[in-house]
Amino acid sequence: MEYRLCPSILSADFNRLGEQIKILEKEGVEYLHIDVMDGDFVPSISFGMPVIKSIRKESNMFFDVHLMVTEPERYIRDFVECGADSITVHAEACEDLERAIELIRDAGVKVGVSIKPATPVNDISHLLEDVDMVLIMTVQPGFGGQKYLPECTEKIVELKELIDREELDVDIQVDGGINDETMETVMKAGANLLVAGSYVFSGDLETNVYSIQKKMDKIKLILQLLAIAFGALGLGWFIGTIITLYISCGG
Ligand code: DX5
Ligand code: ZN
Repeated sequence: MEYRLCPSILSADFNRLGEQIKILEKEGVEYLHIDVMDGDFVPSISFGMPVIKSIRKESNMFFDVHLMVTEPERYIRDFVECGADSITVHAEACEDLERAIELIRDAGVKVGVSIKPATPVNDISHLLEDVDMVLIMTVQPGFGGQKYLPECTEKIVELKELIDREELDVDIQVDGGINDETMETVMKAGANLLVAGSYVFSGDLETNVYSIQKKMDKIKLILQLLAIAFGALGLGWFIGTIITLYISCGG
């Protein structure tokens, strides 16, 4: 599984947006999280197609567009035309979620579905085969700089179990309140795409990105070692059971 930091430009300095994106690229960041807010699905308004079109000219990063927009079905074609590589829509915002997924797929970009903190995983579990990513909001969508809602951790675990059980290739993205502490929590729970706004952009961008990616690598290594250790324990248990059976059958 690929773990990635997805800096959210909502917290960028818009006066220096192009320059800051260049810094992210230089530091090896591949995903750029782009939050579009319409003042209806969420209280705030951010930016739309012209900004994305403009930064697309200067960047080859993967544009991960998060639509916090009512009836996003209306705008999918526009966002693909201005440079989105993936489009994530909110389950709560769509008139017809299946149709929205189909429109995104037909437009030739990756498909993401997002749920707010109060929406159960169960509401989208029947769609897992049709999407590339599920975005679990870990704050109420609408603003950067909020505190992580701990009750969302359980939803990440639940989603990860479903994905693994069905052996699906679906990324789990988390968005909201990611920092030094919560990064470890969400990665342990099963998330692999970590959106971060204020954590990345407050202070020195270059230093932040470097140290956050280093920390992610460290956590990833620990998780991989734990998986190997559990695998070995499982193998030990399996061999032990075979030996016991062999002996109890008279050897
Ligand atoms: C919030 C947005 C987030 C936001 C996260 O609705 O979807 O992407 O930028 O900001 P932080 O990381 O500061 O919580
Ligand atoms: Zn977002």
